[in-house]
Amino acid sequence: MAASKRILVTGGLGFIGSHIAVLLLQHGYQVVIIDNLSNSHLYTLDAIAPLSPQPPHFIQGDIRDPNALSHLFQQHAIDAVIHCAGLKAVGESVAHPLRYYDNNVNGTLCLLRAMENAKVHTLVFSSSATVYGDPQQLPIPESHPLSSTNPYGQTKLTCEHLLHDWQHSQPTARVLCLRYFNPVSAHPSGLLGENFSGSPNNLLPYVLQVALGQRPALQVFGHDYSTVDGTGVRDYLHIMDLAHGHVLGLEYLLQRPHCYECINLGTGQGYSVLQVVQAMERAAQRPIPYTLQARRPGDVAATWADPTRAHQLLQWQANHTLDQMCIDAWRWAQHAVTL
Ligand code: NAD
Ligand code: UFG
Repeated sequence: MAASKRILVTGGLGFIGSHIAVLLLQHGYQVVIIDNLSNSHLYTLDAIAPLSPQPPHFIQGDIRDPNALSHLFQQHAIDAVIHCAGLKAVGESVAHPLRYYDNNVNGTLCLLRAMENAKVHTLVFSSSATVYGDPQQLPIPESHPLSSTNPYGQTKLTCEHLLHDWQHSQPTARVLCLRYFNPVSAHPSGLLGENFSGSPNNLLPYVLQVALGQRPALQVFGHDYSTVDGTGVRDYLHIMDLAHGHVLGLEYLLQRPHCYECINLGTGQGYSVLQVVQAMERAAQRPIPYTLQARRPGDVAATWADPTRAHQLLQWQANHTLDQMCIDAWRWAQHAVTL
């Protein structure tokens, strides 16, 4: 089935989209990428090439540009879309909500319009565990109440509602919202990974910067939570497991005439900040200095997924350990500093 299918990956030069693109190509799909390079680099295309049997077709463009999208759908017979394009920094979304609603919600709206015009009705959406707001139970099942604690989260929630209503209106529409927990790490080749320059948004890139000697110490935000060692606990998930979930999710949709599903992608296991630091110390074989700081505003103590539904519906489960995540992330970090 894969060989004849052409998949559009929006945001396909970003962290998550690029790993999905590689895996799709390895599974025999043809891949078209649209990315406006707002948070990615053309050199990622060069990294994808040696990892894939054939290169993806790349279009530099914005999903909010109706002309670019209609041209794309005219030029390429797209069978399904994996929609990763979006802005993702929580703090920035609080400072610039209009930017987030425009890029994430309006961007999704424009994409759906173009898909509808082109009669493309199959879409996998990059959603987030942020749609659960403050966890009321652990592990978190898909039936957990939905809410948002910041504009970024609200855009993901709004997109899910939008996709739900659109799918309902189209007799042949198939939509899967994958709610990611904490994607980390890198392709095992060390050639592809998350951009960790500047001031990153997440823990792992900071840990890598400290391991590389680019920062003197990690700031650990909060050490008085009721967790195993007082630091925040999250469900870290290897990017290759996450990418594999998309391939299985796509296959799931392609076998159904009409469906709407939301599925968690997480390991079901939480690790504390200090456990991550220790795992990275083992991977990089060096101490990672840290200082204990006050809690970061808006953080919750602990969150991890109930991944049962992903197993039941997609036969998916995460296979990589935290140590493997750190080993692959460290290999990528050593390569990335040479770029
Ligand atoms: P990323 O920033 O690395 O990738 C996003 C890509 O989309 C970038 O290459 C960027 O240039 C592109 N892009 C952004 N707006 C665009 C637009 N209007 N038109 C075309 N291209 C555009 O981020 P990522 O970590 O790969 O995240 C991908 C998706 O997954 C995002 O929607 C994000 O909200 C979601 N997500 C990420 C995480 C995470 O921790 N990384 C967790 C949950 C959900
Ligand atoms: N942390 C530190 N020091 C740092 C960075 C993070 O101690 O320099 C801690 C945080 O306080 C938290 C843990 O590391 O306890 C993980 O933090 P991240 O920022 O990596 O991840 P979050 O779980 O806070 O946020 C992620 C996504 C958001 C999403 C959220 C909820 O980045 O986009 O999950 O799903 F909204």
